[in-house]
Amino acid sequence: MKKILFVSSEVQPLIKTGGLADVAGSLPIALAELEQDVRIIIPKYQALKLDGEVKYRCSLRINNYDINILETRLPGTDVIVWLVDCPEFFDVPGNPYTDEFGSAWANSAARFSLFCRVAVETSQNRAHLDWKADIVHCNDWQSGLVPALLTLESHRPSTVFTIHNMAYQGLFSETDYFDLNLPGQLWNPGALEFHSLLSFIKGGIACADHITTVSPNYALEIQTAEYGYGLEGLLHHRHHELNGIINGIDIDVWNPETDTRIAQNYGIDSLAKKAGNKAALQQHFSLPVEPAIPMIGLIGRLVDQKGIDLVIDCLDSLTNYPIQFVLLGSGEKGFEHRLKNLSYLYPDKVAVSIGYNEDLAHLIEAGADMFLMPSRFEPCGLNQLYSQRYGTLPIVRKTGGLADTVVDALPHNIADKTASGFVFEEASVGAMLETIKRAILLYANKRTWQQLQKNAMRKDFSWRQSAQQYLDLYNTL
Ligand code: ADP
Ligand code: GLC
Repeated sequence: MKKILFVSSEVQPLIKTGGLADVAGSLPIALAELEQDVRIIIPKYQALKLDGEVKYRCSLRINNYDINILETRLPGTDVIVWLVDCPEFFDVPGNPYTDEFGSAWANSAARFSLFCRVAVETSQNRAHLDWKADIVHCNDWQSGLVPALLTLESHRPSTVFTIHNMAYQGLFSETDYFDLNLPGQLWNPGALEFHSLLSFIKGGIACADHITTVSPNYALEIQTAEYGYGLEGLLHHRHHELNGIINGIDIDVWNPETDTRIAQNYGIDSLAKKAGNKAALQQHFSLPVEPAIPMIGLIGRLVDQKGIDLVIDCLDSLTNYPIQFVLLGSGEKGFEHRLKNLSYLYPDKVAVSIGYNEDLAHLIEAGADMFLMPSRFEPCGLNQLYSQRYGTLPIVRKTGGLADTVVDALPHNIADKTASGFVFEEASVGAMLETIKRAILLYANKRTWQQLQKNAMRKDFSWRQSAQQYLDLYNTL
């Protein structure tokens, strides 16, 4: 049995801004089911949704800050979550990365370097928790200093650094570096220095014993200039210690047969009942309640990564077809405004909900016929997994984890019953529109469509295999 410290800046259902939270809230459970002793550590943000018991465990002092470590459990499980309580940094309104007005925290470097230091102390059994890690599993830049700091220690745990997104790197100035009192030995291009900047993510990439990404395809992509953001050389240099493990999903939370957030439960043998969700979705958005019209859904952060510009540019043409399109998301204000305007222009066809709404996310997964993800890059992507489980066929760009998890409805894939969605290659309005048209055409053929839905719903996206792959990896370190 390994003792694993899982370091993450967000974890569902306590706090979530994106897919990292889904992973941090489900992979540790799967590891615990494989008999591992796994503990999660996250900052104690003001916005945490804590409903279980929270107890005080210990206090420590780092860099002149007084810190308490509190303990709770992942709701509904025995998995221990340690909360790093440093009110100066974390007991403030906002999300992990931005203040309540949406501006990035000015003290991000200080917030997360403190978090990393506490994770190091905890992993080395110096936090009075009577527990020493064998493996520290870090995730994304917010935890990137941990592998770097641990290289300075003897008798240290092994480190794994998982890249969920190369686009966010945690870059700060040299002055920040020295203000943070970080050790001088790590200020070099082999560790935390990146073109005279402090790079948190580089700490993970350069110093962890092993690096993973959240899909095999993305592990290859980030070794190229297009996806590597200047770190492709280092990633390629370390390719023997780099691999991709596809994310699983929480198959209890995302289960159309039992989901309490949808209008009508259904399963692979009762697909007709899915229609109840479509009607509820149409009602929710005040769209005409038409059972036969193809309904396309999209949920996501409204940022460049997700290809939102392509969606906006294609909506005019798309509304020439008999479709309805519903979108739930929040992000860049420019995208939000343009999408809202399109919904005013086409009130019978386009509906937009700006904000973060988990109930509505489930209803869209259940109620739409197709789910659009035209991402410019996508390390793994979870919504295409959820949508396949809900028999809502994804239309995706062939990139990252989307390419690894969706099988295009080409004739031979339809024939051998592997087809589970629609895939296009080029990041262009033309390519996307052609593929949506292809999906609309196939939608008219009810028998084939149902077969595709069943192919998608039968796929195993549970954590079982991927958690085992992480465990196998831990065992090699
Ligand atoms: P990313 O992590 O890049 O945002 P993923 O597809 O991995 O993309 O995960 C996004 C997760 O966040 C999914 O669980 C998705 O349903 C959820 N999500 C994104 N935006 C919203 C929103 N506006 N309301 C509710 N859930 C959202
Ligand atoms: C990131 C990626 C997304 C991935 C998620 C969880 O936010 O953008 O593709 O699914 O992390 O690993």
